[in-house]
Amino acid sequence: MSVPPKIALVTGAYKGIGLEVVRQLATRGVRVYLTARQREAGEKARASIKGDVHFLPLDVSDPPSIESAVRALRRQEERLDVLVNNAAILLDDGGNVLDLDGETARQTFATNTVGPLLVTQAFQPLLEQSKAPRVINVSSGAGQLAEGLQDWAPAYSMSKTALNALTQHFAAALRRFAVNSVSPGWVRTDMGGAAAPLSVDQGADTIVWLALDAPQTLTGKFLRERAEIAW
Ligand SMILES: NC(=O)c1ccc[n+]([C@@H]2O[C@H](COP(=O)([O-])OP(=O)(O)OC[C@H]3O[C@@H](n4cnc5c(N)ncnc54)[C@H](OP(=O)(O)O)[C@@H]3O)[C@@H](O)[C@H]2O)c1
Repeated sequence: MSVPPKIALVTGAYKGIGLEVVRQLATRGVRVYLTARQREAGEKARASIKGDVHFLPLDVSDPPSIESAVRALRRQEERLDVLVNNAAILLDDGGNVLDLDGETARQTFATNTVGPLLVTQAFQPLLEQSKAPRVINVSSGAGQLAEGLQDWAPAYSMSKTALNALTQHFAAALRRFAVNSVSPGWVRTDMGGAAAPLSVDQGADTIVWLALDAPQTLTGKFLRERAEIAW
């Protein structure tokens, strides 16, 4: 009897690190739901990847869109094994906390923090059907308190610090799940820019490792390069 494939869903996945995560998971035989808020870009990205890859529209900042993605997945699958909360925005690159306006802060938190909160809650029932459910929150060194926050992109940085707190809350609340945050490093994407030292392949590595290879008992941690780092 053949082993059923693992099933994963990645948010904000039509480009950048998310798309590379989809590609690597598909290469490993995972059935992957590539999600994006832009349907055409999502379908095009799906078609560019070989393997068991499907597209679902999902805007993580829009609760009705989250609910319809859950309904769409339920029509196809009885469970979800891996959820990667990858989608994020960086609106205040170069900005300073003294200039930060409320709308930029609200939009950033709505996508980068409240998005993963609502998406994880919404997919929890399907994740509960997995033998080894995993949630990976793609965070950032910009949100790492231990190193001291830099005077850069305060809305983005605070949204990732709060995302790390969300990781700890979900890890405490969902005892059977592995829930972790990842700092992918500075990666060459539209967000990271051309000067970044890491490729998307390198940026996706720890995310894919947590999705498939890390022990299920590893939970409630912040990781970079497959190793725990300080919050
Ligand atoms: N690149 C780096 O150096 C770096 C460093 C640290 C952490 N990260 C993190 O890594 C993750 C991926 O970033 P990236 O570098 O690959 O950036 P990217 O190329 O800009 O990709 C971000 C993705 O998120 C999507 N997105 C934004 N808002 C969304 C929403 N409301 N609903 C659904 N999708 C949405 C974007 O789609 P649209 O085009 O539709 O907005 C895009 O597909 C992010 O969480 C980021 O914070 C990146």
